[in-house]
Amino acid sequence: PEQAPAIEMPASDLETLRARARDCRACPLWEPATQTVFGEGPHDARIVLVGEQPGDEEDLSGRPFVGPAGRLLQRALDEIGIPRQTLYLTNAVKHFRFERRGKHRLHKAPEPGHARACRQWLVQEIGLLKPDVIVCLGATAAHSVLGRDFRLMQQRGRWERLSNGASAFATVHPAWVLRQPEGDREAAYRGFVEDLRLLAAPAP
Ligand code: URA
Repeated sequence: PEQAPAIEMPASDLETLRARARDCRACPLWEPATQTVFGEGPHDARIVLVGEQPGDEEDLSGRPFVGPAGRLLQRALDEIGIPRQTLYLTNAVKHFRFERRGKHRLHKAPEPGHARACRQWLVQEIGLLKPDVIVCLGATAAHSVLGRDFRLMQQRGRWERLSNGASAFATVHPAWVLRQPEGDREAAYRGFVEDLRLLAAPAP
């Protein structure tokens, strides 16, 4: 008789989880990517930031938010006086999705199926971290954390309560701010910082 596959028990700590995510084959994005970019930050962080997916520099270095979007995020955090080292930074999708154009690799937004396949890692990260606050950067993260019906531009910048007791809110993605036409970029950045200011007050 055929043996039933062993049940995969939830990882008991973040290092075990990271090791498992390294070999993830739950969607096809692992193959062209350099490596899994797992979350990073203190394991007792009270605030978790969730991005969309690693970009080119993150894919090469294996660390989240080290490229242009990460630098803009850093600037915004500096403005509101929150040290980046106190946060745990991760992504809804943990492999870089891209399109080759000559020698360049152009970011391509993940599809809902990629986010769905990857959500197991995010759910386990949050389960182990037990943060008080989760910040979703962009629609992909918001859909993974707050549900598919979440409408980013209507519902951004206000507190939501999650079933695990954490408070959460969503804002735009820093890469979206960078993609705005020059005349709109400053206003987009100000809106991003205003939303992040929710972090400066105690979560409800
Ligand atoms: N954008 C993201 O969403 N995550 C990163 O890690 C880098 C850029």
